[in-house]
Amino acid sequence: MVGAVKLLAVLGGVLAVPHLCRISSFVWLYFLRPSSLRRYLHGPSPYALITGATDGIGKALARELLRNGFNLILHGRNETKMKKVVEELRKSVPDKPDADIRYFIADASQAGHDFTQMIETFKDLHITLVYHNVGGSDTSPERLDERTEDYLYAMLHKNTLFALFLNRVLLPHLRRSAKSGPVLVQFMGSLAGDVAPPRLSIYAASKGFLESLSHGLDNDELFFDGPTGVRYAYLVAGPVQTGPMGENFRTPSCETFAKAVMARTGCGGRRVVPYAVHAVLLWFMGNVLGDAAVDRFSAEEIRSLIEQAKKGE
Ligand SMILES: NC(=O)c1ccc[n+]([C@@H]2O[C@H](COP(=O)([O-])OP(=O)(O)OC[C@H]3O[C@@H](n4cnc5c(N)ncnc54)[C@H](OP(=O)(O)O)[C@@H]3O)[C@@H](O)[C@H]2O)c1
Repeated sequence: MVGAVKLLAVLGGVLAVPHLCRISSFVWLYFLRPSSLRRYLHGPSPYALITGATDGIGKALARELLRNGFNLILHGRNETKMKKVVEELRKSVPDKPDADIRYFIADASQAGHDFTQMIETFKDLHITLVYHNVGGSDTSPERLDERTEDYLYAMLHKNTLFALFLNRVLLPHLRRSAKSGPVLVQFMGSLAGDVAPPRLSIYAASKGFLESLSHGLDNDELFFDGPTGVRYAYLVAGPVQTGPMGENFRTPSCETFAKAVMARTGCGGRRVVPYAVHAVLLWFMGNVLGDAAVDRFSAEEIRSLIEQAKKGE
């Protein structure tokens, strides 16, 4: 009898090990680990490049990076709005008057850009951080067969191909920056990429594309003729307060989310959930709720977002 109890105790201990490891890495990542952001402040004048930087998460990332001593290369689609954002950033971070803020304008949902030409004016700058942030989807009730081909191409360009082609032309320049210190390229992902809710299948698939792309490119730079010093990470974002949804514990403001991204930048993970509550949510969905409940719950969320969007029209 005593032997059986001992055996069960040992078995319990062994089974608890993965959970204890998971809890300790959670506590380390979100509460104890100092930020590595400063490691990317190398070279005479380091730059961070952020796409989709005139609003939402991208604009908040730009502000945090400026505050932390980076020069900025911002991307947007509307030059008038971009100029206002640059002014706003300068005002909100008055202690960095010498920081260089540049921008480039391109509609990410359009095909046919000359990407080499696009980066011509800033390709020789010392870029150490890249945030491929531009992306998103509308929440409307149409199914795939009710969408036009043009709409689908525009979605795919904005959410995948723009980042792919921009990254392609940037890479040789990033490898050059990596000669004096680490360089990190991050793709903004979404919880939707894991859950694939109804009516968001193209958007979800595009995030799946970015996750695999990021993983594969990291392998390229690390294990094949490398390491080159350029690393990649895929960031998983849950809901962030940009649209109609209100801010709450689960839905942080863009500023709170951007601070979380800064805190996790360079943590070494290839798939990083920057905001702790989103990490708990993902764990809960995967380990407690199960697929069927998550699918039903996400369908209800999308239904209510579509209703809200309709009311806002
Ligand atoms: N917000 C969330 O809850 C959430 C959740 C998960 C993942 N994400 C991801 O986070 C990223 C940013 O999302 P967000 O909510 O911050 O988006 P947002 O508030 O809609 O801002 C998106 C930014 O991208 C720009 N943009 C949009 N379409 C563009 C186009 N065709 N060409 C060039 N620029 C364009 C916008 O420019 P304008 O200022 O001109 O509109 C803006 O600067 C996306 O990749 C999204 O998938 C967001």
